[in-house]
Amino acid sequence: MRVGILTVSDRSSRGERPDASGPAIADFVRSRLGWEIAQTAVIPDEFPIIRDTLIDWADNLKLHLILTTGGTGFAPRDVTPEATRAVVERETPGIPEALRAASLKITPHAMLSRAAAGIRGRTLIVNLPGSPKAVKENLEVLVPVLPHALELLQESPDAEAGHSPKKELRA
Ligand code: MTE
Repeated sequence: MRVGILTVSDRSSRGERPDASGPAIADFVRSRLGWEIAQTAVIPDEFPIIRDTLIDWADNLKLHLILTTGGTGFAPRDVTPEATRAVVERETPGIPEALRAASLKITPHAMLSRAAAGIRGRTLIVNLPGSPKAVKENLEVLVPVLPHALELLQESPDAEAGHSPKKELRA
């Protein structure tokens, strides 16, 4: 699987604060999932830049998974969920629901996450919060489902019918 990591942070994009969360995601993805980091970037909290980067990585680089970090909270410049919703064709609400539910057991601040997730073509895009701690906690929740989620996205359109007679009957 080829993964892109998009760090959304005004301060990191200006070089005022080192990006700790992007590398934390990269370490996690390599060591726990064994997947390749195909692309990374650090960009400001600007809707058009986030939107255009997501479109480029999904449509041109054809990444299987894009993990964003940052810009999901209540600050006026937090627009990562809006840019994500603007580019996905199908939202996957179960993912942010599960992330918030699990994170609420760790901190009530999880209520402040507006993170979104969804599918564009065959690319899954998932918003993660901004801190390295939150990133790792959220990724732990995703580990059991990500391999199956990405496999489903790579399947040919008629693959499902082939291995489930019951589904054919229902159709
Ligand atoms: N989720 C987990 N698991 N652990 C955390 O520490 N921090 C929260 C939340 N989700 C947190 C978390 C906080 S403080 C905020 S403001 C929101 O995510 C949004 O984070 P962001 O604005 O950095 O994207």
